[in-house]
Amino acid sequence: MKFFIDTANVEEIRLANDMGVISGVTTNPSLVAKEGRDFFQVLKEIVAIVDGPISAEVVSLDANGMIEEGEKLAAIHPNIVIKVPMTAEGLKATKIFASRGIKTNVTLVFTANQALLAARAGATFVSPFIGRLDDISENGMHLIRDIADIFRIHALDTEIIAASVRHPVHVTEAALAGAHIATCPFGVIEKMIKHPLTDQGIERFLADWSKMDK
Ligand code: E4P
Repeated sequence: MKFFIDTANVEEIRLANDMGVISGVTTNPSLVAKEGRDFFQVLKEIVAIVDGPISAEVVSLDANGMIEEGEKLAAIHPNIVIKVPMTAEGLKATKIFASRGIKTNVTLVFTANQALLAARAGATFVSPFIGRLDDISENGMHLIRDIADIFRIHALDTEIIAASVRHPVHVTEAALAGAHIATCPFGVIEKMIKHPLTDQGIERFLADWSKMDK
């Protein structure tokens, strides 16, 4: 399983990229609004840092509007992936983007049927939101497993991005369930790095080393 970072914060993207762990970035309108910066400028900075798929979401609700917005975003760089919502209009836009060679990430996926439809429309990626399902007492991980099974049985090459990741256990479980990618907030990546026994081990090694005659 690969990692994308789920943020529009350029500094976080730079830090995660320097660690060599991320191969792409996902943004959404809420994440972009949180930064309070020009969307196109932020995307230009991101594509200069990460050499991999960078999801940029459209906000139109009709297919024509999505296509107009998506084409402008896609013109920024070949790595830009157009994120479209999982609606009938979003599927129409996905089909047209696919025919024009523009990659898409169908977002706000909450059922296996939605993922299957998105794949058939030509989506490059689908984003099932596991945390938001857990929030309403459903099991997000069952959804990842079902989509992974369906895509495997029917030889669909759309990649599954486990999205709405809230903690490190989500990441391990998504990898076991067959997600191709987990898109993680920076804080989750930081938590995945840490273990108290690693810190304790370093402390002990350094303490022993300092006692030695050199
Ligand atoms: C995915 O692409 C979304 O940007 C994101 O994972 C949503 O996460 P949230 O449910 O924590 O807002």
